Amino acid sequence: MSDFVGQPLDRRAALARMGAVALAAGTVVACGGVVRADLPGLPGAREDDPDSANDPLMRVLGYAALASSAHNSQPWRVRREGSDRIVLLGDPTRRLPAVDPTDREFTLSLGAFLENLAQASEALGLDAAITPLTDGDAVATVQFAPRAPRFDAPEVLDAIRRRRVVRSGHRDTSLSADHARALVETAGRSEWFARGTREDTLLRDGTIEANRLQTARDDAQRELAEWIRFKDDDARAKRDGLTPASMEITGVAGWWVRTRYTAATVMTPSFRERGLATATDQAKAGGGWLVLTSDDGSREALLDAGRRYQRVLLTLRALGVAAHPMTQMLEEPETRTGLEGSLGVDGTLQFLLRVGYVDRYPEPVSVRRPVGWFTE
Ligand SMILES: Cc1cc2nc3c(=O)[nH]c(=O)nc-3n(C[C@H](O)[C@H](O)[C@H](O)COP(=O)(O)O)c2cc1C
Repeated sequence: MSDFVGQPLDRRAALARMGAVALAAGTVVACGGVVRADLPGLPGAREDDPDSANDPLMRVLGYAALASSAHNSQPWRVRREGSDRIVLLGDPTRRLPAVDPTDREFTLSLGAFLENLAQASEALGLDAAITPLTDGDAVATVQFAPRAPRFDAPEVLDAIRRRRVVRSGHRDTSLSADHARALVETAGRSEWFARGTREDTLLRDGTIEANRLQTARDDAQRELAEWIRFKDDDARAKRDGLTPASMEITGVAGWWVRTRYTAATVMTPSFRERGLATATDQAKAGGGWLVLTSDDGSREALLDAGRRYQRVLLTLRALGVAAHPMTQMLEEPETRTGLEGSLGVDGTLQFLLRVGYVDRYPEPVSVRRPVGWFTE
């Protein structure tokens, strides 16, 4: 055995050093606040990873729950109907009325859940026939049937487990033509606007302006505060929303925020100013924007757009490329109106996704509710 600095060691010394490394790593994690791997019951957990469970539907739902959702609100509920059928419902207690009064993002998030579900099913040896429902609380039914697992099952499951939104560290390098093409092919109805184009500038400046408008809105800020889990205990108890780690506030700043901040802090001018400054820096960085559109704003179109969005995120994860949705421009009427015309895109805008190369794609940290919490 050789150790991590490449020097041969005897067995006892090697074990002692491994212990010291593990301890140091544990201390860093303990200082970093709650992260997904700390919480049992979902794929990717350090303990009690349900991948070993023998109920295939529960395994599939565990992967589905790792989908992206607005403010990590996880607006899904699942009703099991026998061993091979589920109904997906929205959870109205998880709406975001201040920034999403029409439930557009709510439905997009449910679409993202369905895409993870579809891909995990195929990887785990199940065919998932998804039927969207046009109205009522139930948004889709899913009928499962056995099939041969996908040949690339390990890669698919790995991408679902290790995907995350990456907000900082995007390099200012344009995406390669191959990557841009792959993105648009995966996304279906969409356009790619490379860094430095007129549309890139428009999206960057519009996003900064929309963030300025939104951080000034007390209702939006109050709603954001309701979904931030500053305290580790709160994150462990609720397993949803935004944690300091998921907002990429790390190190000493993360410790400070976890110990000092409360919901009231979110309403202060200094918190709003810092939020706007961060969003401004983020909007200026990266390789360009993927703009995802749909035929219209119907529920079926939104579920489909949510699925295509999650598909893009998984493709980017496999490529090691960072993605960051910045949706404020679509949430603020002043910046939303006429945007399709200014960008010259067909259809209805659903996602503005900032995409960029990063030196290292970080591990996922956002928390999730385990399957049993949202399944009846
Ligand atoms: C409809 C929708 C809108 C979103 N809007 C934003 C946004 O404006 N800014 C942002 O940083 N993340 C946005 N997100 C990403 C979520 O915050 C993120 O998926 C969630 O916190 C879970 O983190 P994870 O994807 O890293 O697991 C959005 C996600 C969805 C589905």
